[in-house]
Amino acid sequence: MRAVVVKEYAHPAKIPLTQDAPEPKPGNDEVLIDVYSVGMNFFDILQTQGKYQIQPPFPFVLGTELAGRIAQNSPIPKGCPYKPGDRVFGAGQGAYAEKAAVKWRQLLPLPSNMTFDQGAGLFVTWPTSYEALVGRAELKPGEWVLVTASAGGVGIAAVQLAKALGAKVIAAAGSQEKLDVSIKYGGADHAINYSTPGWQQEVLKLTGGKGVDVIYDPVGLIKDSMKCIAWKGRALVVGFAAGQIEKLPLNLVLLKNVSVVGVHWGAYSRKEPEHIPSVWQALLDLFASERVKPVVYPEVYPLEKYSDGLLALERRKTWGKVVARVREEDTKEKAKL
Ligand SMILES: NC(=O)c1ccc[n+]([C@@H]2O[C@H](COP(=O)([O-])OP(=O)(O)OC[C@H]3O[C@@H](n4cnc5c(N)ncnc54)[C@H](OP(=O)(O)O)[C@@H]3O)[C@@H](O)[C@H]2O)c1
Repeated sequence: MRAVVVKEYAHPAKIPLTQDAPEPKPGNDEVLIDVYSVGMNFFDILQTQGKYQIQPPFPFVLGTELAGRIAQNSPIPKGCPYKPGDRVFGAGQGAYAEKAAVKWRQLLPLPSNMTFDQGAGLFVTWPTSYEALVGRAELKPGEWVLVTASAGGVGIAAVQLAKALGAKVIAAAGSQEKLDVSIKYGGADHAINYSTPGWQQEVLKLTGGKGVDVIYDPVGLIKDSMKCIAWKGRALVVGFAAGQIEKLPLNLVLLKNVSVVGVHWGAYSRKEPEHIPSVWQALLDLFASERVKPVVYPEVYPLEKYSDGLLALERRKTWGKVVARVREEDTKEKAKL
Protein backbone atom coordinates (compact mmCIF):
# COMPACT_ATOMS: atom_id res chain seq x y z
CA MET A 1 0.00 0.00 0.00
CA ARG A 2 1.02 3.68 -0.36
CA ALA A 3 2.17 5.21 2.93
CA VAL A 4 4.53 7.80 4.37
CA VAL A 5 7.02 5.49 6.06
CA VAL A 6 9.64 7.12 8.29
CA LYS A 7 12.80 4.99 8.32
CA GLU A 8 15.16 7.61 9.77
CA TYR A 9 14.71 11.11 11.17
CA ALA A 10 14.45 13.76 8.46
CA HIS A 11 12.33 16.73 7.47
CA PRO A 12 9.12 15.67 5.61
CA ALA A 13 10.49 17.38 2.46
CA LYS A 14 13.09 14.58 2.39
CA ILE A 15 10.70 11.67 3.02
CA PRO A 16 9.07 10.40 -0.20
CA LEU A 17 5.91 8.32 -0.31
CA THR A 18 6.58 4.55 -0.10
CA GLN A 19 4.58 2.64 -2.76
CA ASP A 20 4.81 -0.88 -1.30
CA ALA A 21 4.48 -0.53 2.48
CA PRO A 22 2.94 -3.56 4.24
CA GLU A 23 -0.68 -3.27 5.44
CA PRO A 24 -0.85 -2.75 9.22
CA LYS A 25 -2.04 -5.70 11.31
CA PRO A 26 -4.76 -4.63 13.77
CA GLY A 27 -4.02 -5.54 17.39
CA ASN A 28 -6.49 -6.12 20.23
CA ASP A 29 -9.26 -3.51 20.26
CA GLU A 30 -8.17 -2.24 16.83
CA VAL A 31 -10.01 -2.03 13.53
CA LEU A 32 -8.61 -1.60 10.04
CA ILE A 33 -9.56 1.66 8.33
CA ASP A 34 -9.62 2.49 4.63
CA VAL A 35 -8.22 6.00 5.02
CA TYR A 36 -9.83 8.70 2.86
CA SER A 37 -8.46 11.92 4.39
CA VAL A 38 -5.74 12.83 6.87
CA GLY A 39 -5.68 15.89 9.17
CA MET A 40 -2.24 17.51 8.97
CA ASN A 41 -0.63 18.75 12.17
CA PHE A 42 2.50 20.67 13.08
CA PHE A 43 3.50 17.78 15.32
CA ASP A 44 3.78 15.55 12.20
CA ILE A 45 6.76 17.72 11.18
CA LEU A 46 8.27 17.34 14.64
CA GLN A 47 7.69 13.57 14.64
CA THR A 48 9.54 12.91 11.35
CA GLN A 49 12.53 14.70 12.90
CA GLY A 50 12.44 12.92 16.27
CA LYS A 51 11.40 16.10 18.08
CA TYR A 52 7.91 15.12 19.30
CA GLN A 53 7.01 13.61 22.67
CA ILE A 54 5.56 10.50 20.96
CA GLN A 55 8.18 8.73 18.79
CA PRO A 56 7.26 5.23 17.55
CA PRO A 57 10.17 2.87 16.77
CA PHE A 58 11.45 2.79 13.15
CA PRO A 59 10.03 2.17 10.65
CA PHE A 60 6.77 3.94 11.42
CA VAL A 61 3.95 5.40 9.36
CA LEU A 62 3.38 9.12 9.90
CA GLY A 63 0.10 10.82 10.82
CA THR A 64 -2.54 10.76 13.54
CA GLU A 65 -5.87 12.37 12.60
CA LEU A 66 -7.96 10.64 9.95
CA ALA A 67 -11.36 9.96 8.45
CA GLY A 68 -12.35 6.89 6.46
CA ARG A 69 -14.39 3.70 6.37
CA ILE A 70 -14.05 0.49 8.37
CA ALA A 71 -12.29 -1.82 5.88
CA GLN A 72 -14.12 -4.86 4.50
CA ASN A 73 -11.35 -7.13 5.88
CA SER A 74 -11.27 -5.46 9.31
CA PRO A 75 -11.67 -7.55 12.46
CA ILE A 76 -14.55 -6.32 14.62
CA PRO A 77 -13.45 -6.58 18.28
CA LYS A 78 -15.95 -7.42 21.04
CA GLY A 79 -17.98 -4.32 21.96
CA CYS A 80 -17.01 -2.38 18.82
CA PRO A 81 -20.17 -0.73 17.43
CA TYR A 82 -18.88 -0.37 13.84
CA LYS A 83 -19.24 -2.68 10.85
CA PRO A 84 -17.31 -2.79 7.57
CA GLY A 85 -18.15 0.21 5.38
CA ASP A 86 -19.12 2.55 8.26
CA ARG A 87 -17.85 6.13 7.93
CA VAL A 88 -15.72 7.14 10.92
CA PHE A 89 -13.21 9.74 12.05
CA GLY A 90 -10.65 9.61 14.81
CA ALA A 91 -6.99 9.24 15.64
CA GLY A 92 -4.28 6.61 15.61
CA GLN A 93 -0.62 6.48 14.55
CA GLY A 94 -0.16 5.78 10.83
CA ALA A 95 -2.77 8.00 9.16
CA TYR A 96 -0.76 8.94 6.04
CA ALA A 97 -1.49 5.58 4.41
CA GLU A 98 -4.12 3.70 2.45
CA LYS A 99 -4.94 1.64 5.55
CA ALA A 100 -4.48 2.30 9.26
CA ALA A 101 -5.04 0.14 12.34
CA VAL A 102 -6.82 2.24 14.98
CA LYS A 103 -8.29 1.49 18.42
CA TRP A 104 -12.07 1.51 17.92
CA ARG A 105 -12.49 3.62 21.07
CA GLN A 106 -10.47 6.34 19.31
CA LEU A 107 -13.13 6.57 16.58
CA LEU A 108 -16.51 8.28 16.26
CA PRO A 109 -19.18 7.99 13.56
CA LEU A 110 -18.64 10.66 10.88
CA PRO A 111 -21.69 12.98 10.89
CA SER A 112 -23.79 12.36 7.78
CA ASN A 113 -23.57 16.03 6.75
CA MET A 114 -19.76 15.95 6.55
CA THR A 115 -17.19 14.97 3.93
CA PHE A 116 -14.16 12.86 4.84
CA ASP A 117 -12.01 15.99 4.35
CA GLN A 118 -14.08 17.82 6.97
CA GLY A 119 -14.02 14.83 9.30
CA ALA A 120 -10.26 14.33 9.14
CA GLY A 121 -9.50 17.35 11.30
CA LEU A 122 -12.16 17.05 13.99
CA PHE A 123 -10.82 14.65 16.56
CA VAL A 124 -8.31 16.88 18.38
CA THR A 125 -9.19 20.41 17.31
CA TRP A 126 -12.88 20.72 18.17
CA PRO A 127 -12.99 19.10 21.62
CA THR A 128 -9.91 21.14 22.60
CA SER A 129 -11.69 24.39 21.78
CA TYR A 130 -15.01 23.28 23.27
CA GLU A 131 -13.51 22.07 26.56
CA ALA A 132 -11.36 25.20 26.80
CA LEU A 133 -14.28 27.60 26.41
CA VAL A 134 -17.00 25.63 28.22
CA GLY A 135 -15.23 23.37 30.71
CA ARG A 136 -12.27 25.54 31.65
CA ALA A 137 -13.28 29.18 31.06
CA GLU A 138 -17.00 28.67 31.79
CA LEU A 139 -17.87 31.13 29.03
CA LYS A 140 -21.26 32.83 29.41
CA PRO A 141 -23.48 34.32 26.69
CA GLY A 142 -22.78 38.01 26.14
CA GLU A 143 -19.15 37.84 27.29
CA TRP A 144 -16.25 39.10 25.16
CA VAL A 145 -13.72 36.53 23.87
CA LEU A 146 -10.37 37.23 22.22
CA VAL A 147 -9.09 34.34 20.06
CA THR A 148 -5.45 34.51 18.94
CA ALA A 149 -4.34 32.68 15.74
CA SER A 150 -8.04 32.89 14.97
CA ALA A 151 -7.76 31.39 11.47
CA GLY A 152 -5.68 28.37 12.57
CA GLY A 153 -6.96 24.86 13.26
CA VAL A 154 -7.98 25.25 16.89
CA GLY A 155 -8.49 29.02 16.54
CA ILE A 156 -11.22 28.97 13.88
CA ALA A 157 -13.06 26.26 15.84
CA ALA A 158 -12.85 28.46 18.96
CA VAL A 159 -14.22 31.48 17.08
CA GLN A 160 -17.19 29.49 15.78
CA LEU A 161 -17.88 27.82 19.14
CA ALA A 162 -17.68 31.08 21.10
CA LYS A 163 -20.18 32.63 18.68
CA ALA A 164 -22.48 29.60 18.93
CA LEU A 165 -22.31 29.92 22.74
CA GLY A 166 -23.53 33.51 22.50
CA ALA A 167 -20.25 35.37 23.06
CA LYS A 168 -18.94 38.45 21.25
CA VAL A 169 -15.73 37.48 19.49
CA ILE A 170 -12.63 39.46 18.58
CA ALA A 171 -10.43 37.43 16.26
CA ALA A 172 -6.70 38.18 16.16
CA ALA A 173 -4.40 36.90 13.43
CA GLY A 174 -1.24 37.79 11.54
CA SER A 175 -2.42 38.70 8.03
CA GLN A 176 -5.35 40.36 6.26
CA GLU A 177 -6.24 37.07 4.56
CA LYS A 178 -6.52 35.35 7.96
CA LEU A 179 -8.59 38.22 9.38
CA ASP A 180 -11.00 37.88 6.44
CA VAL A 181 -11.17 34.09 7.01
CA SER A 182 -11.94 34.63 10.72
CA ILE A 183 -14.95 36.75 9.81
CA LYS A 184 -16.13 34.85 6.72
CA TYR A 185 -15.76 31.27 8.02
CA GLY A 186 -15.53 31.87 11.78
CA GLY A 187 -18.27 34.46 12.14
CA ALA A 188 -16.10 36.72 14.34
CA ASP A 189 -17.62 40.10 15.23
CA HIS A 190 -14.30 41.92 14.82
CA ALA A 191 -10.85 41.02 13.53
CA ILE A 192 -7.55 42.68 14.34
CA ASN A 193 -3.97 42.12 13.21
CA TYR A 194 -1.79 41.23 16.19
CA SER A 195 1.40 41.93 14.29
CA THR A 196 0.53 45.65 14.54
CA PRO A 197 2.15 47.14 17.68
CA GLY A 198 -0.42 48.37 20.21
CA TRP A 199 -3.19 46.05 18.91
CA GLN A 200 -4.45 45.70 22.47
CA GLN A 201 -5.67 49.32 22.34
CA GLU A 202 -8.03 48.31 19.56
CA VAL A 203 -9.42 45.49 21.73
CA LEU A 204 -9.98 47.93 24.59
CA LYS A 205 -11.75 50.33 22.23
CA LEU A 206 -14.01 47.58 20.86
CA THR A 207 -14.99 46.49 24.37
CA GLY A 208 -15.73 50.03 25.58
CA GLY A 209 -12.53 50.12 27.67
CA LYS A 210 -13.49 47.03 29.71
CA GLY A 211 -11.34 44.40 27.98
CA VAL A 212 -12.18 40.81 27.10
CA ASP A 213 -13.61 38.31 29.61
CA VAL A 214 -11.86 35.32 28.03
CA ILE A 215 -8.58 35.00 26.13
CA TYR A 216 -8.20 31.83 24.05
CA ASP A 217 -4.51 31.59 23.19
CA PRO A 218 -2.83 28.81 21.16
CA VAL A 219 0.19 31.02 20.28
CA GLY A 220 1.95 32.09 23.49
CA LEU A 221 0.50 35.60 23.70
CA ILE A 222 -1.00 35.54 27.20
CA LYS A 223 1.38 38.19 28.56
CA ASP A 224 0.67 40.58 25.67
CA SER A 225 -3.07 39.92 25.92
CA MET A 226 -3.13 40.79 29.63
CA LYS A 227 -3.09 44.44 28.52
CA CYS A 228 -6.64 44.02 27.28
CA ILE A 229 -8.19 41.48 29.69
CA ALA A 230 -11.18 42.48 31.82
CA TRP A 231 -11.45 42.41 35.62
CA LYS A 232 -11.85 38.74 36.67
CA GLY A 233 -10.96 37.63 33.11
CA ARG A 234 -9.93 34.06 32.30
CA ALA A 235 -6.87 33.41 30.13
CA LEU A 236 -6.80 30.00 28.42
CA VAL A 237 -3.35 28.51 27.78
CA VAL A 238 -3.96 26.32 24.72
CA GLY A 239 -0.57 26.10 23.03
CA PHE A 240 2.68 27.74 22.02
CA ALA A 241 2.54 27.92 18.22
CA ALA A 242 5.10 30.74 18.29
CA GLY A 243 7.65 28.15 19.41
CA GLN A 244 8.47 29.31 22.97
CA ILE A 245 6.89 28.15 26.22
CA GLU A 246 5.57 31.45 27.49
CA LYS A 247 6.48 32.82 30.92
CA LEU A 248 4.17 35.15 32.80
CA PRO A 249 4.92 37.77 35.49
CA LEU A 250 2.35 36.97 38.17
CA ASN A 251 1.70 40.61 39.08
CA LEU A 252 -0.37 40.70 35.87
CA VAL A 253 -2.54 37.92 37.28
CA LEU A 254 -2.95 39.64 40.63
CA LEU A 255 -3.76 43.13 39.39
CA LYS A 256 -7.05 42.30 37.65
CA ASN A 257 -8.10 39.17 39.62
CA VAL A 258 -7.33 37.09 36.54
CA SER A 259 -7.49 33.27 36.29
CA VAL A 260 -4.90 31.61 34.04
CA VAL A 261 -6.31 28.24 32.99
CA GLY A 262 -4.64 25.41 31.10
CA VAL A 263 -6.30 22.94 28.77
CA HIS A 264 -4.79 19.66 27.55
CA TRP A 265 -7.47 17.73 25.74
CA GLY A 266 -5.28 14.69 25.06
CA ALA A 267 -4.88 14.11 28.80
CA TYR A 268 -8.63 13.57 29.37
CA SER A 269 -8.42 9.99 28.06
CA ARG A 270 -6.10 9.17 31.01
CA LYS A 271 -7.30 11.61 33.68
CA GLU A 272 -11.04 11.99 33.12
CA PRO A 273 -12.31 9.58 30.43
CA GLU A 274 -15.85 9.77 31.79
CA HIS A 275 -15.99 13.46 30.74
CA ILE A 276 -15.22 12.85 27.05
CA PRO A 277 -18.64 11.58 25.83
CA SER A 278 -20.48 14.71 27.06
CA VAL A 279 -18.08 16.96 25.13
CA TRP A 280 -18.54 14.91 21.96
CA GLN A 281 -22.32 14.80 22.38
CA ALA A 282 -22.41 18.62 22.62
CA LEU A 283 -20.18 18.93 19.55
CA LEU A 284 -22.11 16.37 17.48
CA ASP A 285 -25.33 18.25 18.30
CA LEU A 286 -23.72 21.51 17.16
CA PHE A 287 -22.46 19.90 13.93
CA ALA A 288 -25.91 18.41 13.25
CA SER A 289 -27.54 21.82 13.75
CA GLU A 290 -24.91 23.33 11.39
CA ARG A 291 -24.37 26.18 13.87
CA VAL A 292 -20.69 25.27 13.57
CA LYS A 293 -18.92 23.77 10.57
CA PRO A 294 -15.34 22.51 10.10
CA VAL A 295 -13.18 24.77 7.93
CA VAL A 296 -10.87 22.96 5.50
CA TYR A 297 -8.00 24.83 3.81
CA PRO A 298 -9.04 24.97 0.11
CA GLU A 299 -5.86 23.35 -1.21
CA VAL A 300 -6.33 19.67 -0.35
CA TYR A 301 -3.05 17.78 -0.93
CA PRO A 302 -3.01 14.34 -2.59
CA LEU A 303 -1.03 11.82 -0.49
CA GLU A 304 1.84 12.01 -3.01
CA LYS A 305 2.19 15.73 -2.19
CA TYR A 306 1.73 15.45 1.57
CA SER A 307 5.05 17.21 2.24
CA ASP A 308 3.91 20.31 0.27
CA GLY A 309 0.99 20.57 2.72
CA LEU A 310 3.24 20.20 5.76
CA LEU A 311 5.65 22.80 4.33
CA ALA A 312 2.79 25.27 3.79
CA LEU A 313 1.66 24.63 7.37
CA GLU A 314 5.19 25.12 8.68
CA ARG A 315 5.55 28.40 6.74
CA ARG A 316 2.32 29.74 8.29
CA LYS A 317 0.65 30.03 4.89
CA THR A 318 -2.42 27.92 5.63
CA TRP A 319 -5.62 28.50 7.54
CA GLY A 320 -8.38 26.24 8.84
CA LYS A 321 -7.52 22.56 8.87
CA VAL A 322 -5.01 21.36 6.26
CA VAL A 323 -5.94 17.99 4.80
CA ALA A 324 -4.20 15.31 2.71
CA ARG A 325 -6.48 13.13 0.59
CA VAL A 326 -5.69 9.45 0.25
CA ARG A 327 -8.81 8.22 -1.60
CA GLU A 328 -11.51 10.07 -3.51
CA GLU A 329 -14.96 10.01 -1.98
CA ASP A 330 -17.78 8.41 -3.98
CA THR A 331 -19.05 11.37 -6.02
CA LYS A 332 -22.74 10.40 -5.64
CA GLU A 333 -22.40 10.36 -1.85
CA LYS A 334 -20.46 13.62 -1.87
CA ALA A 335 -23.13 15.31 -3.97
CA LYS A 336 -25.66 14.57 -1.21
CA LEU A 337 -23.64 16.58 1.34
N1 LIG B 1 -4.00 22.15 24.47
C1 LIG B 1 -4.40 21.24 23.65
O1 LIG B 1 -5.03 20.25 24.03
C2 LIG B 1 -4.10 21.43 22.19
C3 LIG B 1 -4.81 20.73 21.21
C4 LIG B 1 -4.54 20.99 19.85
C5 LIG B 1 -3.55 21.92 19.52
N2 LIG B 1 -2.86 22.56 20.51
C6 LIG B 1 -1.79 23.52 20.19
O2 LIG B 1 -2.37 24.69 19.65
C7 LIG B 1 -1.44 25.30 18.78
C8 LIG B 1 -2.12 25.64 17.47
O3 LIG B 1 -2.53 24.43 16.83
P1 LIG B 1 -3.29 24.48 15.42
O4 LIG B 1 -3.62 23.09 15.07
O5 LIG B 1 -4.37 25.50 15.48
O6 LIG B 1 -2.12 25.01 14.49
P2 LIG B 1 -2.18 25.80 13.09
O7 LIG B 1 -3.44 25.49 12.37
O8 LIG B 1 -0.87 25.52 12.45
O9 LIG B 1 -2.26 27.32 13.52
C9 LIG B 1 -1.24 27.92 14.25
C10 LIG B 1 -1.29 29.42 14.02
O10 LIG B 1 -0.42 30.03 14.98
C11 LIG B 1 -0.01 31.27 14.48
N3 LIG B 1 1.43 31.49 14.74
C12 LIG B 1 1.92 32.53 15.43
N4 LIG B 1 3.24 32.46 15.48
C13 LIG B 1 3.61 31.36 14.78
C14 LIG B 1 4.87 30.78 14.46
N5 LIG B 1 6.03 31.32 14.89
N6 LIG B 1 4.88 29.65 13.72
C15 LIG B 1 3.73 29.09 13.31
N7 LIG B 1 2.50 29.61 13.58
C16 LIG B 1 2.45 30.73 14.32
C17 LIG B 1 -0.28 31.28 12.97
O11 LIG B 1 -1.35 32.19 12.73
P3 LIG B 1 -1.02 33.70 12.28
O12 LIG B 1 -0.27 33.59 11.00
O13 LIG B 1 -2.35 34.31 12.17
O14 LIG B 1 -0.18 34.29 13.39
C18 LIG B 1 -0.76 29.86 12.67
O15 LIG B 1 -1.76 29.85 11.69
C19 LIG B 1 -0.26 24.34 18.63
O16 LIG B 1 0.79 24.79 19.45
C20 LIG B 1 -0.82 23.03 19.14
O17 LIG B 1 0.19 22.22 19.72
C21 LIG B 1 -3.13 22.34 21.82
